[in-house]
Amino acid sequence: MHRVVSLVSVLVLGSAWSLQGAPTLPETLILPQESFDLEKFMGKWYEVAVVSTCPHYMHRKRGNPITVALELKHVISEDNFTMTSTTLRNGSCKESSTRYSLTTIPGRFFHHVARFGADVYSFVVDTNYDEYAMLIQLGTEKPSGNKTTTVKLYSRTVDVGAPVLQDFKTVAKQHGMSEDTVIMNQYKGECVPVEGMTETTTQPQPPVSKRSKRNVEPPRIPAQGEYAGII
Ligand SMILES: *[C@@H]1O[C@H](CO)[C@@H](O)[C@H](O)[C@H]1NC(C)=O
Ligand SMILES: *[C@@H]1O[C@H](CO)[C@@H](O)[C@H](O)[C@H]1NC(C)=O
Ligand SMILES: *[C@@H]1O[C@H](CO)[C@@H](O)[C@H](O)[C@H]1NC(C)=O
Repeated sequence: MHRVVSLVSVLVLGSAWSLQGAPTLPETLILPQESFDLEKFMGKWYEVAVVSTCPHYMHRKRGNPITVALELKHVISEDNFTMTSTTLRNGSCKESSTRYSLTTIPGRFFHHVARFGADVYSFVVDTNYDEYAMLIQLGTEKPSGNKTTTVKLYSRTVDVGAPVLQDFKTVAKQHGMSEDTVIMNQYKGECVPVEGMTETTTQPQPPVSKRSKRNVEPPRIPAQGEYAGII
């Protein structure tokens, strides 16, 4: 099966891949799905399962294992897309938006989380676009240099089939995480955010692309984002 083949396509490369001015790439480069189609990946997703090597992230997620609704939007010709997440937190609906920069490799994105000083590379390692998507996120925190790996399962519906979930657990295992630690999110209904509660949780970075133009705007101060929705 095509799906299984792409799960094991992991390459280990040196840091020679980092481009001028771009944040240093993690040592392990994960290959995204072949012929990745960004436009087909856009739209609505639900984050149905997650697992991470980051203890803080796991702690937060375990404390609130609620299915996060995601809306991905890409403006054609832009080197980035936004992911808006809506989640119920402490009884109220919270929305936050993250800008992901596209990179030279389709299916690999970059974003920076100012609050944790973290550079994060995301890879869509497996998706059929209309049902599920599996993401691997490699974060490097500064100045500690601590690295984290987070694996996420997105679904177009609030449920996910057993075979997809099993594949997801396999991916987690390949990245050193036990399948027992996978957090299955619970769907608690759609929530509609109260107006004015939208916040930006990340500071946009120049895309890792040679045609990137330097952003001369002063950096935006990120709002108090929850770690859970970010890495
Ligand atoms: C998104 O990309 C476009 C060019 O492709 C750029 O002009 C714009 O500043 C970028 N937006 C952010 C927030 O990085
Ligand atoms: C949750 O809401 C209650 C009541 O509004 C508040 O007292 C409490 O501090 C909130 N907890 C968090 C974690 O925001
Ligand atoms: C970095 O990782 C080490 C070992 O896991 C841990 O003791 C330390 O607290 C971490 N540093 C930060 C800033 O998270």
